Amino acid sequence: MKAVQITRHGHVDAVKIVDIEKPKAGKGNVLIKVYASCINPIDIKIREGAVPNIAFPFTLGSDVAGVVTEIGEGVESIAIGNKVYGQAIALAGASGAFAEFASVPAGMLAKMPKNLDFNHAGAAVLTGTSAVQALLEHIKLQPGQKILIHGAAGGIGTIAIQIAKHIGAYIATTATGEGIDYVKKLGASEVIDYKHQAFDEMLQGYDAVFDTVGGQTYEKSFKILKRGGIIVSMVAAQNQKLADEHGVSAISQWTKVTTRNLNMLTKFIEDSIVRVHIDKIYSFDRIKEAFEEQESGNVNGKIVIAIH
Ligand SMILES: NC(=O)c1ccc[n+]([C@@H]2O[C@H](COP(=O)([O-])OP(=O)(O)OC[C@H]3O[C@@H](n4cnc5c(N)ncnc54)[C@H](OP(=O)(O)O)[C@@H]3O)[C@@H](O)[C@H]2O)c1
Repeated sequence: MKAVQITRHGHVDAVKIVDIEKPKAGKGNVLIKVYASCINPIDIKIREGAVPNIAFPFTLGSDVAGVVTEIGEGVESIAIGNKVYGQAIALAGASGAFAEFASVPAGMLAKMPKNLDFNHAGAAVLTGTSAVQALLEHIKLQPGQKILIHGAAGGIGTIAIQIAKHIGAYIATTATGEGIDYVKKLGASEVIDYKHQAFDEMLQGYDAVFDTVGGQTYEKSFKILKRGGIIVSMVAAQNQKLADEHGVSAISQWTKVTTRNLNMLTKFIEDSIVRVHIDKIYSFDRIKEAFEEQESGNVNGKIVIAIH
């Protein structure tokens, strides 16, 4: 079967489409015929060497949507022929999503939302579960609360805005360029152009910050929170000193792509609360262009890889 692998760290030139043996389901896993995946920042970080101790050759790719073709020993929750979506990252017991077939632990999969095609399902996984986990499990966002979402035009931000809007929160966002209109259309109450305006001088008394950017953006965010507020970052390590100074909680989130979190996402999608936004779709043989597009910035929503 065809797969996208790296045998060294590097830029897009390190990416190769190769022929490798089709994986087997294995104990606790299922084998999926992969129809779609998408590019996530983690795929770029792995390729460039930001994730230590990966074994080469390494099959890239995290999010996956496809059809189950084989069931491993001990799997009862999923049957052959089911359409599923989930996480096939080769760091967590799976064989990699950028491939014609992927072996994936059953606990990292769920049945696909009934109202999505493979491309939209394959675009929703890590961004969707990240937003669900942050807003519902950590922030526990309530109607009428004020939240600032950084990186709002990106993959995670796109879904977070829609969930926060459904909850009935007041949503300030940071974005720039075409992203400004995009996040307004998604339901942002207020947009701050992060290239020309200082959000930390404009906002105060917020209940929550959801940070998908990190660095100085994370550090400056503490001062817009009211005492007792919360900041969740997808990128920055928890800064307890700043949290204590401002009397807030700080959480550094590691997203768990579990059947439970995926099922929560499915409910939002099937109830038409969350729409999955695709920026562009690339065929498998154009994977390098897909990486380049993602890395050029100004992507609103997801870059999808159509595999079968
Ligand atoms: N911890 C975990 O488990 C976990 C899970 C998933 C993702 N992540 C991380 O979370 C981050 C976001 O993921 P994603 O999929 O949403 O990425 P993404 O689609 O690339 O979105 C990031 C967004 O941030 C915007 N941005 C860049 N600099 C900014 C700034 N200074 N202020 C405000 N916005 C800014 C980008 O806009 P431009 O287009 O203008 O640059 C882009 O829209 C990534 O670093 C990813 O690796 C972590």
